[in-house]
Amino acid sequence: MKKQLVLITGASQGIGKALAELFLVQGYQVIGTSRSGNIEINHPSFEAMILDLTQMESIKSFEAKIASKGTMFDILINNAGIGPDLGTSLPEERSFDQTFDVNVKGQVFFTEAMIKHLPPSAKLINVSSKMGSIEQCVGTDSVAYRMSKTALNMYTKILTNRYEGQFQIATLHPGWVRTNISGDNSKGRFSPEESAAMIFDFVSSNFKTGIFWNVETNSACDW
Ligand SMILES: NC(=O)c1ccc[n+]([C@@H]2O[C@H](COP(=O)([O-])OP(=O)(O)OC[C@H]3O[C@@H](n4cnc5c(N)ncnc54)[C@H](OP(=O)(O)O)[C@@H]3O)[C@@H](O)[C@H]2O)c1
Repeated sequence: MKKQLVLITGASQGIGKALAELFLVQGYQVIGTSRSGNIEINHPSFEAMILDLTQMESIKSFEAKIASKGTMFDILINNAGIGPDLGTSLPEERSFDQTFDVNVKGQVFFTEAMIKHLPPSAKLINVSSKMGSIEQCVGTDSVAYRMSKTALNMYTKILTNRYEGQFQIATLHPGWVRTNISGDNSKGRFSPEESAAMIFDFVSSNFKTGIFWNVETNSACDW
């Protein structure tokens, strides 16, 4: 039987890499991306590809390669994301631009380019954060990061409305995970592997399209 194909952005480290490894163990074929195209995963069902979400040319070139092979993805996981202002008090122009270039503009235009490579039954997952929840927000820090994830959640809703009855779409919080996304993540409650396992269980389930899901609590997240 043909293996299901999953595309995972930001698979060079952290949650994305752990996810790629888990999907491979579970019998999927995986394409993982990073800016360099170097990903330390050696598996016959794995392919690494270059993608820089801040460069429209990189998105176009990625799409052209996919189109030339006629590749269709059963699952797209938009995992790549950055948080240069995590933990800072006030917005600062450079990190604000960087954050929105990757977490918002890059995600949107990459996803739009991938839509024609998703069959009607495909699952589309955006890795967001509960830091993007307006209802749960009690903090004042990490302005760009929080706002970028709120914007990503809105984009998820828009996609859900546009593709009602077609794709299964969700935005999710992966838990607080010990990765390199910010300096103080060493206290995170989960290893990347533990987060990937929770995400895998969610993605494998028959979830309701359009939800914002917290995989840590296995429950809906407030918008
Ligand atoms: N860790 C947490 O506690 C936590 C909590 C909530 C949400 N999240 C979300 O989970 C996702 C993964 O985060 P993580 O903690 O695993 O982070 P990470 O370890 O820093 O990994 C980020 C990934 O994104 C890729 N990336 C960075 N800039 C990129 C760009 N311009 N274009 C394409 N890819 C780029 C990186 O690849 P290269 O640098 O190799 O290109 C890397 O593979 C993010 O969306 C993050 O916001 C994380």
